[in-house]
Amino acid sequence: MKIFHNISQLITLAGGPQRGLQLGRLGMIEQGAVVCEGENILAAGGNEEMLERYPDAERVDLHGRAVVPGFVDPHTHLIWAGDRANEFEMRLQGKSYMEIMAAGGGILATLTATRNASLEQLMEEARSRGDTAFSYGTTTIEAKTGYGLDIETELRQLEAILELDRTAPIEIVPTYMGAHAIPPEYKGNPAGYTRFLCEEALPATKQWWLEHASGRPLPFVDVFCEAGVFEIEETREILSAAKALGFPLKLHADEFENLGGASLAAELGAVSADHLVKTSLKDIARLAASETVAVSLPGTPFGLAQQEYTPAKEILAADGYLALATDLNPGTTWNESMQFIQALACRYLKLTPAQALAASTINAAKAVALEHTVGSIEPGKQADFLVLTTPDYRNLSYRYGTNQVAIVVKKGDLYPNAD
Ligand code: NIG
Ligand code: FE
Repeated sequence: MKIFHNISQLITLAGGPQRGLQLGRLGMIEQGAVVCEGENILAAGGNEEMLERYPDAERVDLHGRAVVPGFVDPHTHLIWAGDRANEFEMRLQGKSYMEIMAAGGGILATLTATRNASLEQLMEEARSRGDTAFSYGTTTIEAKTGYGLDIETELRQLEAILELDRTAPIEIVPTYMGAHAIPPEYKGNPAGYTRFLCEEALPATKQWWLEHASGRPLPFVDVFCEAGVFEIEETREILSAAKALGFPLKLHADEFENLGGASLAAELGAVSADHLVKTSLKDIARLAASETVAVSLPGTPFGLAQQEYTPAKEILAADGYLALATDLNPGTTWNESMQFIQALACRYLKLTPAQALAASTINAAKAVALEHTVGSIEPGKQADFLVLTTPDYRNLSYRYGTNQVAIVVKKGDLYPNAD
């Protein structure tokens, strides 16, 4: 048993996911302590009381620094090979993201590199990003496939996810995203590729999962619902086929154009709808009336130097669940840090530091259906939390560009960052 004591601000985020304007309920204990038993939290409370109640626990003095739950990053494309620095330069010269994609670059450029990469190479590149995310405080990360778009490479990406989850300190939540783009084999034939996904790829993926994932629940299935990629009717077909096979759902919706993806996600009971830049008030109302979490990815418009961000204030006013994520990927936003995302969310989504933190922890946990095990510091939950370098949690949003996590605690184990 360990007791982490002498905490200036213990931000528990206790009490479950936070809807609408409840967002930002910190559950702060000033002068607090956390007690862990093995991988889990046994108790959290006032410093003196905890020290008295657990006199035999091994003591870890945190010297008056703040403690927050480990960040959950509920939307990343962690597994890929290579980079697209050339496209960044093209965009600076005036080409748009969708123009580059239509010309065979973008996701399809990463597809070629990923198809050519071995499992070992994929894992090595992803492991280094996962380690960076972890040192910046992400203790649980969602990771999508979607750079193979054939059965063999997509399964290799899933294998990389499972193997990394087993061997790296960061915990990984898998998502199958065969519907990330139309592959070269089906160029100009989105209907054909949609049929292939529904009739062959999804059943094959399920079969493979049942044989290889040691009893883990099925991964999420996600679709890039966007003009020129998967239109709304194709998206509906793919998500419905996935749902019928028992997969839980996520959706890339309204990143560049409004096709009604957010409403579709709510209608089909998706766990989250993500991006939501062009989302209308009508779609927001439908989302807010459901359990589907709205996941905003402010690193993406920032990475693309675009001016428009998720209408977060409207989502909160409508009483929706709002979460934040990085969208880590080689095309639009190569950023592993949820600290930076909170800094962006305060400036462009107009969240308070408390709202940004709640959206990066307990609400982000709900966006990957893990709100009962991670995302807050409460008895019975996993001992996943962060010791900051400073006494005030608001620094997480106020400052940016440097790492403000001193120690990552994952399942009760300590991972100190170098000073
Ligand atoms: O979420 N929009 C689609 N997928 C990613 C970009 C992936 C890529 O460009 O490689 C996104 O922004
Ligand atoms: Fe994405």
